[in-house]
Amino acid sequence: MAEISRVGIVGLGTMGAGIAQVCVQAGIEVVGREVDPELGERGRQTIDHYLARGVEKGRLGEDEKDAALGRLSLVTDLGELASCGLVIEAAFEDLDVKRALFAELDGIVEPSAILATNTSALSVTQIAEATRTPERVVGMHFFNPAPVLPLVEVIRTTYTSDEAFETAYAFARRLGKEPVACNDTPGFIVNRILIPLLNDCVRVLDEARVSPEDVDRAMRFGANWPIGPCALIDLIGVDVHVHVSEALHAALGEERMAPPQRLLEMQQAGQLGRKSGHGFYDYEPLS
Ligand SMILES: NC(=O)c1ccc[n+]([C@@H]2O[C@H](COP(=O)([O-])OP(=O)(O)OC[C@H]3O[C@@H](n4cnc5c(N)ncnc54)[C@H](O)[C@@H]3O)[C@@H](O)[C@H]2O)c1
Repeated sequence: MAEISRVGIVGLGTMGAGIAQVCVQAGIEVVGREVDPELGERGRQTIDHYLARGVEKGRLGEDEKDAALGRLSLVTDLGELASCGLVIEAAFEDLDVKRALFAELDGIVEPSAILATNTSALSVTQIAEATRTPERVVGMHFFNPAPVLPLVEVIRTTYTSDEAFETAYAFARRLGKEPVACNDTPGFIVNRILIPLLNDCVRVLDEARVSPEDVDRAMRFGANWPIGPCALIDLIGVDVHVHVSEALHAALGEERMAPPQRLLEMQQAGQLGRKSGHGFYDYEPLS
């Protein structure tokens, strides 16, 4: 199995910047591709900011931070990912965008390179089918925030070769993550379980006429959850939750997978949780 020394990351938004940070901290060269230089720079600043926080908290030294940032290069031309042994795509959650990217990447990288998508709710199979080499396409589903949450769901389709799957799995381990093996099924493992469960919790707010605080306290102190369901939705982002919910509902048709009306209204009102400063709870602006 080829050792991967350089990774391409397509999209340096919330997830791409987090994944890039994990890679450069693990000593891996990253080529980050954004659609324009300003967005690339914004991704670099995000990484810089979180690494600086790590230095303040004594988790890494200033020299380690500089070395990590030195491993990140920014490009806008997808062709510059040609030398990457693995490309992780973290662009918009849009099937056409991802299929176009994979079709293009397929003609750019070496035949031995692995192509991974970080999609939350799209079909990895349909993304793979945009390439001529679907056997080297996998899902690598990191969780937000990627530098903090250990899980990576490594997803195989019916096309995926054992070698591509094992390379992606081993790479996740090399990043210090906890990979799990999944098949390309709606919601994979965590979202398939968590999203309908969180929807149930939100429905209880109205059905049982209780407050978000009390639902959260109930699940923390009665079920030993480390965080209450309303606080968790605020952390995930109401928009992200609604999107995955709709995708699960469309794929599997169970009523409890459809986003509750309350969440649709919150999304409409821009109450997206921590990222917008308001959700079930109010938050200080993100620093
Ligand atoms: N946010 C989450 O909690 C979360 C968790 C797990 C997985 N995901 C998945 O990760 C992916 C990215 O989500 P996000 O929350 O980081 O989105 P985001 O909107 O924060 O970032 C997406 C970035 O991709 C860039 N982009 C779009 N098209 C591109 C292209 N063709 N080439 C290069 N860059 C491009 C955009 O400029 C943007 O910066 C989605 O597929 C999403 O479903 C998100």
